Amino acid sequence: MLASTSAIEDLPTAPGRLPGLGHAAALLRSRLRFLDSLHRCGPLVRVDLPGLRCWAVTSPELVHEIAADADSFGRGVSLAEEERVAGRRATAVHGRTRTAWSDPAASGWLDAVREAGADIARRWADAPRVDVLRAMDELVLSAIDRAVLAGRLGQRDTAEIHRLLPDIRRDAVLRTLLPEGLARLPTATHRRVARAGRDLQSLVDDVLCRAPARGSADPIAALTRGRARGGPADLRRDIVDTVFATTSGTAATLAWTLHELARRPELQDRLHRELDEVLDGGPATADVLDSLVRTRRILTEVLRLYAVPLVARRCRREVVLGGVRFPEGSELLCSPHAVHRDPEHYLRPDLFDPDRWLAGGAPVDGAFLPFGTGGQRCSGDQVVYRECLVALAALLARRRVVPAAGARVRTTAGGSVVPSGLRLAVLPR
Ligand code: HEM
Repeated sequence: MLASTSAIEDLPTAPGRLPGLGHAAALLRSRLRFLDSLHRCGPLVRVDLPGLRCWAVTSPELVHEIAADADSFGRGVSLAEEERVAGRRATAVHGRTRTAWSDPAASGWLDAVREAGADIARRWADAPRVDVLRAMDELVLSAIDRAVLAGRLGQRDTAEIHRLLPDIRRDAVLRTLLPEGLARLPTATHRRVARAGRDLQSLVDDVLCRAPARGSADPIAALTRGRARGGPADLRRDIVDTVFATTSGTAATLAWTLHELARRPELQDRLHRELDEVLDGGPATADVLDSLVRTRRILTEVLRLYAVPLVARRCRREVVLGGVRFPEGSELLCSPHAVHRDPEHYLRPDLFDPDRWLAGGAPVDGAFLPFGTGGQRCSGDQVVYRECLVALAALLARRRVVPAAGARVRTTAGGSVVPSGLRLAVLPR
């Protein structure tokens, strides 16, 4: 077995390496283009960053192997970012997060998303130019407030979170890949981002000290009681994690979906027809969500096309992957964004085509990984489709979106990929 393996030194190195900087400059210049190009070098490619050597895994088959072996591959470098924002590593937290409030049956999370979406749709009665990403951030924050914080989040807090979000999202990819020393260099950006993380933590601390604004059932009291350890500090971190996960994940996905629908009137017509047939003027409740099959395909295509730039794994022991022996501690990078746009697996990969999902799931195992893979896979994955379906139904049942004049959408790739500058006009149907 060992005789047929090769060593990591034999693997190709990605083009664009500079002395001292490695591939950092290429990543900074255009991280998505750089990551998307790596599959051309082979299934395993060396990528150098200052003080850190990594190997990009570009083949779905190898990604699938990693997913299947949670014992050998642990969390890699990329979650350092969440750690910086939340104040510690986001381990097991989300097992609790999911049962505590992301579980729609237990917590009314879907009701909260529906109400938040309906509020926004009402305000969109006459909206010639909506900042869509901001509106979707507002939707998820309002849902967190309703389902978890019992109305403790005031308008000022929400405005403050909106102010902090761009810094919290900014440039996560490179900073997460930088070794700790470099990431903490006191550059203006690093200082601003670190401050944003601290400000979000203390805002949540303040919010948790308040009495609930309305209603008798207070999830916070129950959640604090239910904690085996950590108490309020632990709860604060769960909430910060959830703000981070829902704004960079759910809100971005909803914004991209509205963007694609606005550009494709016939697709939006099909979505409206399905909403009419399935909901018949009523709300999107949990029992009908499985019937929204076309809308689900649209979401799947959004999750394919606008996937996160990177997930990372570290070898917990020596492993053989793709015939190459990786020593314990080797850092592996996998780009869901790049895998999803690889023409070897997706026909015309840059085309937004929800019908490519008519035949079922991914073309090969490991080729669809919007929620990451293996033991560190996103723990929000079960709820994401349901919350997005509920939100879209609330937003679009009586509304139609069209591009706003003069708006230019830019793809901004941080920890996730978000549509900067997206503005839409909202019309009655
Ligand atoms: C469209 C929405 C979302 C997308 C695309 C998304 C995507 C991801 C991805 C790619 C990862 C990294 C997984 C890996 O390293 O293999 C991740 C991790 C994570 N996500 Fe999400 N996510 C979304 C929404 C959510 C929501 C709503 C929650 C919970 C409130 C959540 C909680 C988490 C947690 C806790 C982790 C870390 C898991 C761990 O390290 O054990 N995510 N997510």
